[in-house]
Amino acid sequence: MTDKLSLPANSVMSSTDFIYGVATASFQIEGGASSRLPCIWDTFCNTPGKVADGSNGQVACDHFNLWQQDVELIDSLGVDAYRLSISWPRVIKQSGELNQEGVDYYLAILDELKARNIKAFVTLYHWDLPQYLEDNGGWLNRETAYKFQNYADKISTAFGDRVYAYATLNEPFCSAFLGYEAGIHAPGIKGKEFGKKAAHHLLLAHGLAMQVLEKNSPNSKNGIVLNFTPCYPESDSAADIAATAFADDYFNQWYIKPLFDAQYPEILAQLPKENHPEIQDGDMEIISHAMDFLGVNFYTRAIYRADDKEVFFQIDPPAPLTDIGWEIYPKAFTELLVSLNEKYSLPPVYITENGAAMADKLIDGVVNDQDRVEYYQTHLNAVNDAIEQGVKVDGYFAWSLMDNFEWAEGYLKRFGIVYVDYDTQVRTIKASGLAYKALISNR
Ligand code: FCB
Repeated sequence: MTDKLSLPANSVMSSTDFIYGVATASFQIEGGASSRLPCIWDTFCNTPGKVADGSNGQVACDHFNLWQQDVELIDSLGVDAYRLSISWPRVIKQSGELNQEGVDYYLAILDELKARNIKAFVTLYHWDLPQYLEDNGGWLNRETAYKFQNYADKISTAFGDRVYAYATLNEPFCSAFLGYEAGIHAPGIKGKEFGKKAAHHLLLAHGLAMQVLEKNSPNSKNGIVLNFTPCYPESDSAADIAATAFADDYFNQWYIKPLFDAQYPEILAQLPKENHPEIQDGDMEIISHAMDFLGVNFYTRAIYRADDKEVFFQIDPPAPLTDIGWEIYPKAFTELLVSLNEKYSLPPVYITENGAAMADKLIDGVVNDQDRVEYYQTHLNAVNDAIEQGVKVDGYFAWSLMDNFEWAEGYLKRFGIVYVDYDTQVRTIKASGLAYKALISNR
């Protein structure tokens, strides 16, 4: 095991032009719930049985109150950039007007980042949909896409030139599939007929937001963040290969192909009519708006076999696994980036999330997470390999700055490079955080 992170000196990733950052999301760290409107994750957390430890986001890492010390912590890591998300229900009132108090909270953070020369990568939607919109159908209601455009318009005007890069959405796959098809994320709606409808409205929202970002914030880099779980067949039988290709289209290509090719994967024709999205004239043009960057989140891969009933069946991941049960398989990261670059004419890519949940122990004030250091080393190498094969990657963000509310897992899974004691809110930089800091400063 290694306790250091390193890259070849001649690598693009060893240059000071390559952006290193850390990432978080509003609902996962902020708390401060009483000073914003409720969102779908508040409701989901309040529904018994939905979140593993029965927890919620009322306090989380109390970043709402501790943001100044957290920005100092970010700065102490020597990163070039910080990826944060804006809580829609904190900055927009039900009337659609700005909530100035909420806006001021983010303006103070953005100004502090700027003063410290840390680039702000702002995600507009990291899953905390205002509950009043869900009460009106949420992402199953086309109107929500226009509400999102209004929010993007108002907030980007208010933020002025403080933002280096805007991502419209984080991982629309998770919002659509996990939230409206599998039902394991908020709002917890289950049914095959809902997932692709929600996905279409999310992608439409993205395109509509791109229009206003281009107008209000022409100097920022504007794009989207997608997650990918590359699909591999269990065997090289024709049936397993075909089933795996279907799964890849259903889970991965579904969210990127419309952005670059203005169409959904061909498997759309094979889906039952009642599962189809409602595509109106002009939608695909809006969705395929040119972007300045593509954000890619990668954690793991998935292995499939053919299945008579469901087309594909995902087998249990083989070891080695992280603490959340995801296989550690960095080769898929390289292969993903190379294959996306072959399939689409990509703008520059940022790795907007990569990291691992590990069973951390805080012992005598130290978290010696060598397993996470190892994960980061092998995945940084994987990105470097992709760059050497011609993919233009301009930056890398560790998920996450600090341990936080891990959605349906609650506080049980720790992804931070900084440890959080939730009783005292004391932060302790883990060995991985120190290694990341050294990697960045030794460039
Ligand atoms: C991603 C999410 C992020 C975090 C990581 C572990 O899907 O974008 O908020 O939960 O997974």
